[in-house]
Amino acid sequence: MLSRENNELICRVGPGTPMGELMRQYWIPALPSAEFLEPDGPPKRMRLLGENLVMFRDSSGRMGALEESCPHRGASLYFGRNEEGGLRCAYHGWKFDRTGKCLDTPTEAPERQQSFCAKIKARAFPCHEVNHMIWVYMGSRDTPPPFPQFEINTLPPDHVQIPRIMGEEANYLQNMEGDLDSAHLDWVHRRLNEDSPKPEKGIRGFWNPTKRPPILDVVPTEYGAYYSAKRILGDGSEWHRVNQFIFPFHTMITTGDGTINLRSFVPVDDEFTMLISQTGSPLGPISDNIKGGDEFWEEVGGYVDRTNDPKTYFLTKANRSNDYGRDLKVQSETMFCGIPFVGNLQDRAMTELMTNEKGEPIYDRTKEHLSASDAMIVTVRRQLLNAASRLRDEGIAPPNVEDVSLDKVRSASLRLEGGTEWKARSAEARQVQEGKAAAAEVPLIV
Ligand code: FES
Ligand SMILES: [Fe+2]
Repeated sequence: MLSRENNELICRVGPGTPMGELMRQYWIPALPSAEFLEPDGPPKRMRLLGENLVMFRDSSGRMGALEESCPHRGASLYFGRNEEGGLRCAYHGWKFDRTGKCLDTPTEAPERQQSFCAKIKARAFPCHEVNHMIWVYMGSRDTPPPFPQFEINTLPPDHVQIPRIMGEEANYLQNMEGDLDSAHLDWVHRRLNEDSPKPEKGIRGFWNPTKRPPILDVVPTEYGAYYSAKRILGDGSEWHRVNQFIFPFHTMITTGDGTINLRSFVPVDDEFTMLISQTGSPLGPISDNIKGGDEFWEEVGGYVDRTNDPKTYFLTKANRSNDYGRDLKVQSETMFCGIPFVGNLQDRAMTELMTNEKGEPIYDRTKEHLSASDAMIVTVRRQLLNAASRLRDEGIAPPNVEDVSLDKVRSASLRLEGGTEWKARSAEARQVQEGKAAAAEVPLIV
C-alpha cells in the first residue's frame, strides 16, 4: 500500500514533478528508426513524459526532436517543411535545425535577421540512434549524460531484433509492476491443465507443477534492484528466475532461450505508456523466428489505424474496447485466461482497468493489500520514491545516470540444487558476458 501522497509522487511524470524530473535525468527510448526512413521525410508527432515533440530526420540523416510548439507564436512544427538542414514552420517560415538553433526568421527585415535569429532558440532534445531505436534526452543539462550501456545497445545491429512496441492505456507504474511480479505467471499466463494444447493464437501458457507460489528474494542495488523468484521443480531442484529493474523504468526478464532483452515502460504521459521490448542475441545474428515490429502483432490483428496522435502508433486492435480478443471457449478448455498469450496482452487486461477515484488509469494504491509475492514491487517503489525525493531535495541523481557501466546487467534462468545460495551462484549470469548466451537453464514455459 502507498499513501495518497506517495502514489501521486511515484505516478506523475509531467514537467516539474519529482518523478518526471528523475526520468529526465536519463536517455529515453522514443521511436524506432524505421519511423524515419529517409532524410527530409515528413516530421512526426511524439509525446513523452507529458510533453509534445516533433521528430524528424534532417538532410544529413541525423535525428532531431523539437518541442512541437514553434518559438514564434506557437504553431505546430508538425506541419513544418523538413528541408535543407532544418524544420521550417509553415505559419511564418521561421526555421530551426535539429539542435534548436534558429536559421531563419523571414518575418524580420533582412538587415535585422542575424541579430534577431541569434536571440531565438527552439527547445531541442538531443537524439541518439542505435540498433533500430532512437533515444532522446529531455533533461536540462547542456551536455547530456553518457549514453546507457545496456547490452542491447552494444551488440552489432544484426544481433538485435527491431523493437516490439505495445501501447498501454494506463500509467507506467502499474504496467511495469507486472514485470516485477513473478507470481502472476502461475495465473493469468497459465494453461488450464498441464497437458492443455496450445490454443490457436499465442503461446501455450505457463505451468507450475508444484502448486506453490514462488518464493521471492529481493536485492536493492545502486541501479535499481534484482530478485529471484524460486520455484521447486518436479525433480526437487530449484528454478530461480532472476529479473532486473533498472532506473528509471527498465526491466529485464528471463526469456529462457538464451537471448537478452530490455523492456522499457516509457510514459507517454500519466495515462499512457509504451512498452518497448528489445531482444538481442549475444551469439550472432538474431533468428528470424524471433519476430519484431508490426509483424509480431499480426496474430491478434495488428495495430489500429494510425492517426497523427502518438497514442495510436502502437495500440493493438485487441484492446480494452473488445476485451483484448478474449475467447471464452479457449478460457473454458485450454487457458486460465481466454485472452491470447501474445506479448503483454493478457497483462494489459489486468493493469489497464486499474483506476483512481476519478476513473483515470492511475491505480489508487491506498486500496491494495500486498502479499509476500509482491516483495519486488515494494522494493522498486521504495527505490523510485527515494531516488525522486533525493533528486528533489538534494539534487542527487542515482549513480547509473553517470556510471553507465552499471547498466551492464542481465536476467537469468537458473536450475540449482535445493538449498544453493542463489545470489553468489548467479553473480556471473547477472552480468553481461560478451559472446555468451544468457543463462537459460529452464525454459520459461515448463
Ligand atoms: S508560429 Fe512558427 S513561424 Fe510563426
Ligand atoms: Fe506477464
